[in-house]
Amino acid sequence: MVEILRTVAALKARVQEWKAAGASIGVVPTMGALHDGHLSLARAARAGVDRVVVTIFVNPKQFNNPDDLKKYPRTLEADAALLGTVGVDAIFAPDPAEVYPPGFATTISVSGVSEPLEGAHRPGHFDGVATVVTKLFGMTRADRAWFGQKDWQQLQVVLRLVADLNLKVEVVGAETVRDADGLALSSRNARLSEEARGIAPSLYWALQSAAGDIRDGEPLDEVLEEAREAVLGAGFDKIEYLELRTAAMLDPMTRFDAPARLLAAAWLDGVRLIDNIPV
Ligand code: PAJ
Repeated sequence: MVEILRTVAALKARVQEWKAAGASIGVVPTMGALHDGHLSLARAARAGVDRVVVTIFVNPKQFNNPDDLKKYPRTLEADAALLGTVGVDAIFAPDPAEVYPPGFATTISVSGVSEPLEGAHRPGHFDGVATVVTKLFGMTRADRAWFGQKDWQQLQVVLRLVADLNLKVEVVGAETVRDADGLALSSRNARLSEEARGIAPSLYWALQSAAGDIRDGEPLDEVLEEAREAVLGAGFDKIEYLELRTAAMLDPMTRFDAPARLLAAAWLDGVRLIDNIPV
């Protein structure tokens, strides 16, 4: 059984012991409802540092929709069993009042890279992410932290904040884990009907096809329009964005120049799916 730490004090005490013994510490921040994408991060951490903490905290500050926060799956027992198979050292699963006690007044806000795409569609989301991630780095005193490329923009925001605040943690970006049909694993996939689950991979394949055309030098506007039409034609209800951006700053591009990233967010069956790939 993996030890579950519920309070900041208990976490700090454990971290203090590990530090005193000279151990390196890794953290994998999550919101739980773990799937193989999360577990791939935990496995990479297990292989990379002496002590691994997986944090499971549904962070209220990063939800711009109260209903989404309420509905977010909370499956701590099943999560702990999965993490037991990986052999992590501890799970930090605090209540919101532990993380945000009365009087809490600080917000970490990363400008620039957090503003387009997810930032434009989910106001306040990245402030919430940046604030909680900074706190988790402080509480765990981690030497290294693992994040998924599935949330590419989040990864860029975290890299920016670590550089800007001179945090000593090394951030590792891990490849997106996909189902056999290409769909990126996400806790939201479980909310798709069987029919919608059949349609969902078309988002990834539209991105793949567009990436090929872009590399072949086809006109960018036309390629992106075709990809949007393919996604809607496959049965998605609405596209929030499907764009080519510079890979690190996520600036708009009028002409392809590597390293670039294709990123998309679209609605299917009442579920908002995101994906991205390199070009
Ligand atoms: P959550 O959505 O639970 O994701 C936790 C970590 O798992 C993130 O780094 C995410 O990018 C990664 N991940 C999710 N699906 C993945 C997949 N299919 N392949 C690889 N990695 C995947 O992202 C968050 O939580 C929160 O914003 C958090 C960083 C914990 C801050 O609250």
